[in-house]
Amino acid sequence: MTNLILLGPPGAGKGTQAKRLEDSLGIVQLSTGDMLRAEVAAGSDVGAKAKAVMEAGGLVSDDIIIDIISGRIEQDDCKNGFILDGFPRTTPQAEALDAMLAEKGLGMDHVIEMQVDDEAMVERITGRFTCAQCGAGYHDTFQRPKVDGVCDKCGGTEFTRRADDNAETVRSRLGAYHEQTAPIISYYEKQGVLKSVDGMAAIDAVTEQLNAIVG
Ligand code: AP5
Repeated sequence: MTNLILLGPPGAGKGTQAKRLEDSLGIVQLSTGDMLRAEVAAGSDVGAKAKAVMEAGGLVSDDIIIDIISGRIEQDDCKNGFILDGFPRTTPQAEALDAMLAEKGLGMDHVIEMQVDDEAMVERITGRFTCAQCGAGYHDTFQRPKVDGVCDKCGGTEFTRRADDNAETVRSRLGAYHEQTAPIISYYEKQGVLKSVDGMAAIDAVTEQLNAIVG
């Protein structure tokens, strides 16, 4: 079993690399952002509470997020391990995760910080698009499909862009990251479990750095 956390600001490449690790390690990606977007799309109570906060680039309340993750890591597909992408994002979330893992007799094998420059994140995020059918991620410049307009993975021809992927909201999301999420880097540093990779390298080079850590 391998459990790991990918930490980094919006656009650092957490989702891109989590999908690759999911394939290579045979463990599941748990993205709180994806879970919240599914709640918004389903029109649930949680989705109704999260929608405006997400569109403004703020953070959804700790209680909602902790509840979602606590239930999720108990599911069968997490038995071999999981990659946390976008969680924890505040000190209370990191503390709640430690308590949850201890209660379930689980541990965290790797906490990996993806180090990037903020300014490059705006270009990465505003150029991002996703296959509407299978969720594969692409970028207008950095990760184009092999055939324009056709998903490499499933052949789908419909693509979507996220409502919060505009330059103004990205700047708010980066602000929220530095204010509320960056402090958890020292939380994990103190625990002696923090590792880092250069997230400014090309996508394949970042994957190589991660593989060297997770073995
Ligand atoms: P979430 O969905 O988690 O978004 P995020 O953290 O802002 O991260 P992103 O998905 O934007 O970035 P990423 O690091 O995954 O980058 P990607 O790999 O796609 O959260 C959205 C919202 O939900 C939050 O704002 C908040 O409101 C709420 N939320 C979620 N979790 C929460 C929590 N725990 N607590 C409270 N609220 C929560 O890469 C970006 C683009 O760059 C892609 O197009 C990719 O192709 C490209 N790219 C990736 N790597 C590289 C590279 N090395 N070089 C060049 N291009 C690259």
